[in-house]
Amino acid sequence: MQEQQKVGMNGATSPSGPLLCALRGEPLERAPIWLMRQAGRYLPEYRALRAQAGSFLDLCYTPELACEITLQPVRRFELDAAILFSDILVVADALGRRVSFVEGFGPRLEPLRSAADIARLAPTAVRERLAPVYETVARLRRELPAATALIGFAGAPWTVAAYMVEGEGSKEFYAARRLARRAPAAFEQLIGRLTDATTVHLRAQIEAGAEVVQLFDSWAGVLPEPEFLRWCLEPTARIVASLKEAFPAVPVIAFPRGAGWHYRRLVDATPLAGLSLDTTAPIAAVRAALPEICLQGNLDPVALLTGGPELLREAERIVGVLGRGPFIFNLGHGVLPETDPDAVAALVAHVRSLPLPAR
Ligand code: CP3
Repeated sequence: MQEQQKVGMNGATSPSGPLLCALRGEPLERAPIWLMRQAGRYLPEYRALRAQAGSFLDLCYTPELACEITLQPVRRFELDAAILFSDILVVADALGRRVSFVEGFGPRLEPLRSAADIARLAPTAVRERLAPVYETVARLRRELPAATALIGFAGAPWTVAAYMVEGEGSKEFYAARRLARRAPAAFEQLIGRLTDATTVHLRAQIEAGAEVVQLFDSWAGVLPEPEFLRWCLEPTARIVASLKEAFPAVPVIAFPRGAGWHYRRLVDATPLAGLSLDTTAPIAAVRAALPEICLQGNLDPVALLTGGPELLREAERIVGVLGRGPFIFNLGHGVLPETDPDAVAALVAHVRSLPLPAR
């Protein structure tokens, strides 16, 4: 892997942009900023392209369109990173489970309901099936300015397994939790398949030009402790260890949503560069407990719906607390479809104007 050095506009070699600096723990004057789900339905230019494409997955698998959608928010707002436009469920699709996205409903998959269903999963051909995604990454790296970091991502095995078993979104994922208890050996096999597929998927993104990768474990928070360790922490640690062996300089960020009790253990077990905090995290306590790691996130996406001076004050509070150590400004979950793009513009401008507190 090449050293993360870039040639700037003036031809001089300079260390990479602010997001990568923050992930390496280097002090900065302002917080780098990007937003989970920064591309999507709240942007009229996204809705226009979405209406033209046959389906959501067609968007994900057409490099020209996926590249354009990734760049839309980066052009509109002064963001420090672009996140590949794709979805965590493309890995389920690559394992032969057809995924569709139904308007107003969310993802739908044919559910895996038994050990026999798991045993019948297609042999994994991630690199072949997801080749258009890697082409999108390569195009993006060519088009983005050197200082704008390109983030690749995948769902963590538990979260992707939860959708595959349930067949749709859920608040509690009872079907997935029941299968994990009823048929632990089969569930272990499913998690194992997903761990391998996710590792391949992230390696291919890095080889194509992703400079950072984030693992979304959106449903880590529904599991009891022993199951969190077995289905979330252990597979995450395996994926990150494998990436670190191949690409020691590429930072990995984890987003174990709702699993704040386990932050310390996760950080100790895994060579993560960053931890993305959900909206519920008590930020002063987390900063004090984890002074060394780069922390990202926490702003409630609902604050973007109400906007105004409250939004800016909330951003100041987060910068004031988390900015005492390595920090990236972000939300605690994705931008909501009802968000006014002007509120996003106001937030980004305000975060850009705030000096970071002394360390
Ligand atoms: O801008 C970005 O953040 C990059 C693209 C991205 C999408 N999904 C695009 C998308 C990323 C990083 C994701 C991650 C994702 N996908 C997660 C983890 C983060 C989280 O939100 O917890 C999960 C759980 C999914 C699964 C998924 N995809 C759901 C539950 C839905 C339906 C809900 C919704 O918002 O519609 C999707 C669809 C989806 N993924 C859309 C987008 C822009 C909306 C599709 C549409 O146009 O209708």
